[in-house]
Amino acid sequence: GAGVLPDTVDAALGGTVMFTTSLPPTQTPFISISWLTGTKNIIESDAGANRTDPEYEGRITLFISTGSLELRNLALSDTGEYSVDILPAASAVKAGSIILNIYVTVSSSDSVEFNSSVTLSCSADGASLTTFLWLNGSTEVTASDRVHLTDGGANLTITTVGRYDQGPFTCKVSNLVSSSISDPVQLSINYGPDGAILSISPLLDYYEEGSDMTLSCSADSRPAAQFKWLLNGKLLSFTGAQIQMMNMETSQSGNYSCQAFNSKTLRSTTSQPASISVLSKNICSFIHILHVFLSGNSTSVNITCDASGSIFTRKWLINEQELNPSENIVFYDQKRVLSFRVLKRKDSGKYVCEISNPISTQTTVYTLSVIYGPENVQISGPKEIQVKETLKLTCFSDSVPAANYTWIKNGTVLTQSSEYIKSMAGSSDSGQYICRASNEITKKTSEAAHTLLVTGIDFCS
Ligand SMILES: *[C@@H]1O[C@H](CO)[C@@H](O)[C@H](O)[C@H]1NC(C)=O
Ligand SMILES: *[C@@H]1O[C@H](CO)[C@@H](O)[C@H](O)[C@H]1NC(C)=O
Ligand SMILES: *[C@@H]1O[C@H](CO)[C@@H](O)[C@H](O)[C@H]1NC(C)=O
Ligand SMILES: *[C@@H]1O[C@H](CO)[C@@H](O)[C@H](O)[C@H]1NC(C)=O
Ligand SMILES: *[C@@H]1O[C@H](CO)[C@@H](O)[C@H](O)[C@H]1NC(C)=O
Ligand SMILES: *[C@@H]1O[C@H](CO)[C@@H](O)[C@H](O)[C@H]1NC(C)=O
Ligand SMILES: *[C@@H]1O[C@H](CO)[C@@H](O)[C@H](O)[C@H]1NC(C)=O
Repeated sequence: GAGVLPDTVDAALGGTVMFTTSLPPTQTPFISISWLTGTKNIIESDAGANRTDPEYEGRITLFISTGSLELRNLALSDTGEYSVDILPAASAVKAGSIILNIYVTVSSSDSVEFNSSVTLSCSADGASLTTFLWLNGSTEVTASDRVHLTDGGANLTITTVGRYDQGPFTCKVSNLVSSSISDPVQLSINYGPDGAILSISPLLDYYEEGSDMTLSCSADSRPAAQFKWLLNGKLLSFTGAQIQMMNMETSQSGNYSCQAFNSKTLRSTTSQPASISVLSKNICSFIHILHVFLSGNSTSVNITCDASGSIFTRKWLINEQELNPSENIVFYDQKRVLSFRVLKRKDSGKYVCEISNPISTQTTVYTLSVIYGPENVQISGPKEIQVKETLKLTCFSDSVPAANYTWIKNGTVLTQSSEYIKSMAGSSDSGQYICRASNEITKKTSEAAHTLLVTGIDFCS
């Protein structure tokens, strides 16, 4: 029962409340006054001696003529029931109790953006209160399709909370004579992560092998997102918002992206990939012939220029002139392969493959020797000589590598040399000489014949 006190009283947090008894001021001091809340003694005034609970020291004033009590600097913990026992000098004990109560309860403290619905309930127990007013910061909350005010305005329900609904929300309760406002309530709304952004420092088109770089990831998220990293779509072992890449290797080139994850919303988002090129100054290049195809008497050849590291451009040169595609020359695979459709003799030469990346250039030379022959075997020498003169026949042929020559007469090998020389020719040296040219690589042979007549009388034979 309320007794000498009214039922309830409303008070503002941080403010002051007066628990006023209905007793008229008395000249005769009361024998004792004691104020309690729950089982705790706030103050006991017994025959003029005061005993104040240390918690209330400085926050209360007791009016000894009426037994009323003023409580200042109100905290939310001050809500509750207060009672007084007064022993007047000449009458029975006067007692009373009063409830100081205003609070806001929240249906869920940890909510997820777009997933959760939150209800804020304003209670002001025991008060004969008439109106409730909700404030979001300093703005009055009005009903909308996602904001509902029910129970005469005592409940505020936000059906799909958003990140901007964190408040602070306060509830103001008013009746005709007074109004009071609740402690502000902040909602913790988990959201995101949104828009993971990968940033690179320093940001360059390419990085030299051995240099350093930092990748950072950020995303709007509450609580803060956790980060994972991907290289070419494969998860790396690094975690954290930042990865320091020290002393980079070319193998660390690739497309990096970061993935932000929120452990409360269980949502994740991945950044746009960033392409990182780590280039080596040492381009190690080498040339090799990939295919030699022989079909009938035409040969097609592919010359391949390969290199380690990231290659940006390739160029082929012959005699310091850039080689361009033509009827006979085709390039494949961004000039990795130089292809001769039909290899010609004139294609022999020193080919240079020039490989460049933005920090370095490397050239490799390949000497292409088109092998052929022997063809067009020709013998030079006289058709007729006199006895005792020197016989000299020379043989030529078109051949790469140079042909080996064999001189044959009547099925007998005379010599193996391009020249056949015989001093003091005799009449028996007349006849048909055959020069046989052979190419040890092509394994081909070709012959020419020459008829010589030795005239005069050979006395010595
Ligand atoms: C007891 O408290 C009242 C009110 O605060 C004061 O007027 C009175 O002097 C106090 N008595 C003693 C003995 O301190
Ligand atoms: C209003 O809030 C109170 C206390 O949380 C609850 O018991 C009641 O069901 C709520 N009413 C509505 C309509 O949500
Ligand atoms: C609270 O105020 C913020 C702006 O300050 C607004 O974006 C949000 O929608 C408001 N929420 C409610 C439930 O009124
Ligand atoms: C990186 O991405 C680009 C296009 O975004 C693609 O062309 C390239 O092949 C990718 N690199 C790797 C190593 O996956
Ligand atoms: C959000 O709601 C969807 C669908 O209702 C549900 O599948 C998901 O688990 C919810 N997320 C969280 C974090 O509660
Ligand atoms: C040369 O390489 C190209 C491309 O790889 C291929 O299509 C062609 O058949 C090759 N030619 C020869 C003679 O190997
Ligand atoms: C081979 O070459 C000769 C002469 O150069 C030519 O007459 C012949 O038709 C060629 N054969 C083929 C299969 O191309």
